[in-house]
Amino acid sequence: MIADLMSDSLRASGLSALMRGAGMVTRFIPIPQPTLLVGPGSSARLGQAVAGFGHRKILVVTDAIISRLGLLKPLTEALEAGGARFVVFDKITPDAPIPLIEEGIAFFQEHDCDAIVAFGGGSAMDASKAIAVAVANPKPLRQLAGYFKGLRTPVRIYAVPTTAGTGSEVTVAAVISDPERGRKLVIVDPRIVPKMAALDPSLMTGLPPAVTAATGIDALTHAIEAFVGNWKTPYSDGMALSAVGLIFENLRTAYREGGNLQAREKMSLASTYAGFAFTRANVGYVHAIAHQFGGRYHTPHGLANAIMLPHVLRFSAPAITDKLAQLAVRAKLGTEGDEPETLANRFLDAVEALNRDLGIPETLAALREEDISDLARVAQHEAMTGYPVPRYMTQEECEAMIRKVLPRPEKTAAPARKTAAKAGTGAAAKAAPRRPARRKTGADAA
Ligand SMILES: NC(=O)c1ccc[n+]([C@@H]2O[C@H](COP(=O)([O-])OP(=O)(O)OC[C@H]3O[C@@H](n4cnc5c(N)ncnc54)[C@H](O)[C@@H]3O)[C@@H](O)[C@H]2O)c1
Ligand SMILES: [Fe+2]
Repeated sequence: MIADLMSDSLRASGLSALMRGAGMVTRFIPIPQPTLLVGPGSSARLGQAVAGFGHRKILVVTDAIISRLGLLKPLTEALEAGGARFVVFDKITPDAPIPLIEEGIAFFQEHDCDAIVAFGGGSAMDASKAIAVAVANPKPLRQLAGYFKGLRTPVRIYAVPTTAGTGSEVTVAAVISDPERGRKLVIVDPRIVPKMAALDPSLMTGLPPAVTAATGIDALTHAIEAFVGNWKTPYSDGMALSAVGLIFENLRTAYREGGNLQAREKMSLASTYAGFAFTRANVGYVHAIAHQFGGRYHTPHGLANAIMLPHVLRFSAPAITDKLAQLAVRAKLGTEGDEPETLANRFLDAVEALNRDLGIPETLAALREEDISDLARVAQHEAMTGYPVPRYMTQEECEAMIRKVLPRPEKTAAPARKTAAKAGTGAAAKAAPRRPARRKTGADAA
């Protein structure tokens, strides 16, 4: 690979031009958009609509928690009332592991289904997308990872997101995980964008605060990385700015008052808008690094992003002062008449304050010094071969960035936030590893 032959400094200076060129191409690829149903009860309305589409049998893909909480009921009742035949596969777990997707593929085939309702967070939605590609293109999932690897059109997908974060209901991507190799893989294909999606805030009122926080910052990261990157378009900018405004206005409320339907609805819109933005303009280093934490330590995706976002933004800041200033205005941190530097600094501070208010830890409990060089190497590969970031890092800079979130020695840790992971509560508790992962050697998610 050409990129592997280049020195870090050459890559850091030269690849952004190459990425700009690639962006000129991707901005003309048509990306379909789903019909959106928005508001309390919209999952039932989606069920009514899908029941009328004449499918032979529908596979509803979700996870056990969602199934146990009874969140499927409005959808399944509407499907039944409309005379649709369906079966439920509720075994997906966080990060959509390949073996569970394979079970889903077998379940789809066994029941002779011809469409999928993806019901859940990013993990259930992305598992659904992977199933949809794989049943139409029977080959090992690892071979379907990458751009347009399935020749035949995936089966039809409808989506009901139950978190406000990934935007997967409108994106061309499915992120799945390979537990054997401890890494995440991405399937990219415009044909996996769902045909219809319901943004139903009444499904999100029971989302735990820590998940609300992490997924909300995932959406914020999508919007920011799309807005500051080099593949931005007027359309992606509009979507990203709207998302940032909505998130600054509503995420704290959704976190503190889970039952606030209005805040939940605004957050689901923000997540979808951010999805529209990044599926066109792509993401950046926050995601490149977060994917490594997810693959190796099973850190929840949004939390990994939230921990890295302030550091990556400060690194990029010299190259994106005006963009940060625009984001600050949209976040109501000042007006267009203020100095761009002042506004940019306010935005950087506001992102940190938001993290603090949401109980996001400053460090990643699972991170180990001896892993950093490998994590940085794979993150660099992901960023340099896939993401149009405003400022590339050298290997050393990327390592230093990751080192900033190493757990600090006990005596220097501040009492509340920095030790939250040890106390086992809130978002911080999620920073602890769920189980050890093998060392990885190959390229990660993109
Ligand atoms: N396809 C894309 O474009 C895209 C974009 C960003 C992230 N992702 C991927 O999405 C995955 C993360 O998705 P996520 O952050 O939505 O988390 P998730 O789907 O893993 O869900 C997190 C947890 O919240 C629970 N949960 C979900 N909805 C709930 C509800 N309404 N009430 C109570 N509990 C609920 C789930 O059961 C799970 O335990 C990662 O694999 C990430 O890489 C994909
Ligand atoms: Fe993300």
